[in-house]
Amino acid sequence: MTWSKIAGTGGYLPERIMSNKELEKMLDTSDEWIRERSGIKRRHIAAENETTADMAVAASRKAIEAAGIENSDIDLIIVATSTPDKIFPGTACIVQRHLEIENSPAFDVNAACSGFLYALDIADRFIRTGGARNALVIGSETYSRILDWTDRSTCVLFGDGAGAVVLSAAEEPGILSTHIHANGKYEDLLHVPAGISSGYDAVRSEAAFIQMKGNEVFRKAVGTLGSIARETLSANNIEKKDIAWLIPHQANLRIIVATAKKFDIPMEHVVVTVDEHANTSSASIPLALDVAVRDGRIKRGELLLFEAFGAGFTWGSALVRY
Ligand code: ACO
Repeated sequence: MTWSKIAGTGGYLPERIMSNKELEKMLDTSDEWIRERSGIKRRHIAAENETTADMAVAASRKAIEAAGIENSDIDLIIVATSTPDKIFPGTACIVQRHLEIENSPAFDVNAACSGFLYALDIADRFIRTGGARNALVIGSETYSRILDWTDRSTCVLFGDGAGAVVLSAAEEPGILSTHIHANGKYEDLLHVPAGISSGYDAVRSEAAFIQMKGNEVFRKAVGTLGSIARETLSANNIEKKDIAWLIPHQANLRIIVATAKKFDIPMEHVVVTVDEHANTSSASIPLALDVAVRDGRIKRGELLLFEAFGAGFTWGSALVRY
């Protein structure tokens, strides 16, 4: 039996840091409000010429190095993003070109903030069925380009960045389970209305920016993350106390604290980066994982739980033996 395991992790954050204080000068907001309501202190913002693919490549190089393999060993590339460089080709193909990898399948997945877990689920299935041996699974986002910087209810919450893992074939798990879900009836609560088939004109209007009913999203996120927690534990026949680290999608510290409570996981065992990164959508889980692997908190053999909730609505989890 072939399983998949995380062989290496990598992350990338743009150089420019934007603090809450800087936002105070642009908007009717305050550092205090942003910290209290979301836990966010600062975020990274991509340079003008920096794209989702550029950040994905930087994170991928680190993940490949950490896995101890060569670029040419990669035989599958999946980029989770809702902010691709171009309409086509997929951002994964641009990443593939930069990494000088040839012939592997390369494609994008858009499941908003749950995108990384969707991509991980797909890559795990490829590996377990013999379709790949070393998959590059990336979450990369440039949300600064889809924010209305005059809308205080959304623009203070997001940041840019990329995270990547190399998922390799292994004789032992690895990825113990993935659960992914969606319910499209909530489309209008969190969306960027502009699109290609709905009309180019929209691209230059406010429809090109994130629109969110934050309160309603918050309530739904907390309830749903509780149910995915129960689903994951019972599918694997494990108890809450077996989980060494919770690595949640980093949207809001209050959502993270509420989820940890449902799991009975003390906050010392929850990886939190939302204070420093804000919400980087599909990049947030692999970025948080990379931070905690590199600072030595997460050790080989430990049981990790990833969980995410995002636009769609989409949501999911992965139980991982690191
Ligand atoms: N600064 C100051 N005041 C603000 C700001 C701001 N930046 N933004 C909103 N306010 C005001 C509002 O206008 C409102 O004022 P009012 O009472 O006079 O009308 C007040 O603050 C309270 O606003 P709420 O929206 O009720 O605040 P809430 O406590 O719900 O926090 C937040 C808002 C942070 C957006 C929260 O609802 C949230 O985190 N929602 C979930 C976000 C999320 O998880 N998204 C999913 C992933 S993202 C993805 O998939 C792309």
